[in-house]
Amino acid sequence: MKNEYMAYPAVVKKILKESSNTNTYTLAFVNEEKQKNFKALPGQFMMIGIFGIGEAALSICKIDEDGSFSTTVRNVGNVTNTIYQLKEGDKLNMRGPYGTGWPLEELKGKDILIVAGGIGLPPLRGIIDLVQKNRKNYGHLEIIYGARTPEDMVFKYEFGAWRQIKNSRFDLTVDTVSLGSKWECKIGLVTSCFPQMKTRNKNSIALLCGPEIMMRFAAKCLETIGFKDNQIYVSLERRMKCGFGKCGHCQIGPKYVCKDGPVFSYDEIRPYIHPL
Ligand SMILES: Cc1cc2nc3c(=O)[nH]c(=O)nc-3n(C[C@H](O)[C@H](O)[C@H](O)COP(=O)(O)OP(=O)(O)OC[C@H]3O[C@@H](n4cnc5c(N)ncnc54)[C@H](O)[C@@H]3O)c2cc1C
Ligand code: FES
Repeated sequence: MKNEYMAYPAVVKKILKESSNTNTYTLAFVNEEKQKNFKALPGQFMMIGIFGIGEAALSICKIDEDGSFSTTVRNVGNVTNTIYQLKEGDKLNMRGPYGTGWPLEELKGKDILIVAGGIGLPPLRGIIDLVQKNRKNYGHLEIIYGARTPEDMVFKYEFGAWRQIKNSRFDLTVDTVSLGSKWECKIGLVTSCFPQMKTRNKNSIALLCGPEIMMRFAAKCLETIGFKDNQIYVSLERRMKCGFGKCGHCQIGPKYVCKDGPVFSYDEIRPYIHPL
């Protein structure tokens, strides 16, 4: 019988520094067969563990052609700090992928609005890659990304290429800029970018990921311009233990964030997250 708790050794192939407390790790299973057969969807997550320390749910932000994938990790506690100390060639354990991804079928032919805050951008990067590679399958792409400071932004090295995506708009904002720091975009909450937003409610889907309060404010603003709840998708974060619907740790109302989510349509999850 398949043991879903079973984790497999993986190797850190590459580490990319994103900010003072965040790195992107390219990982691959040690077992070649397992690696070759690895498939995941944008928005799904892995349970990544260090023996003797614990496990953390981490989103898949990019999948390479050889099946290795990347995850962007912010150092906030025990597990993530241990991952943060790893070097290229070191090993850890992984199981997954788990959860639902973004609604890929529904996105086809639609305008896509991405609203991301802080470490909420990594789970959405797969969607940007998808649109970039299959441009004619989608309508207008708009990305609104906010972070605490310019230095906290992840994937800065991709911004130039994202700005070149045809039929798209890319808006950046930060809460504060430290003295002497160069910043030519907005200062303010992500919702302060909404007045200039090009995406309209017709034939559009909005994908939101970031702090829950940010997603609630963004959803409220979208509703005022005519978005229906079933045009808005959010990715939720809850503390996870098993990752596949067995332990109940991540439960929110009748839903298990690990199994029924982490991506939910707003009309499905709205009653359980106290919308504004
Ligand atoms: C579906 C999903 C996808 C995620 N994707 C990413 C990702 O791509 N990159 C990333 O850096 N993090 C991601 N997270 C959050 C990540 O799982 C937690 O930061 C991690 O588990 C913390 O473990 P730790 O042992 O390092 O911290 P701990 O020592 O357990 O906790 C440190 C601090 O972080 C808080 N915390 C821990 N877990 C969570 C959580 N799930 N939500 C909110 N606060 C938490 C604790 O309350 C505490 O204040 C994701 C979480 C989920 C549920
Ligand atoms: S983490 Fe165990 S049920 Fe979701």
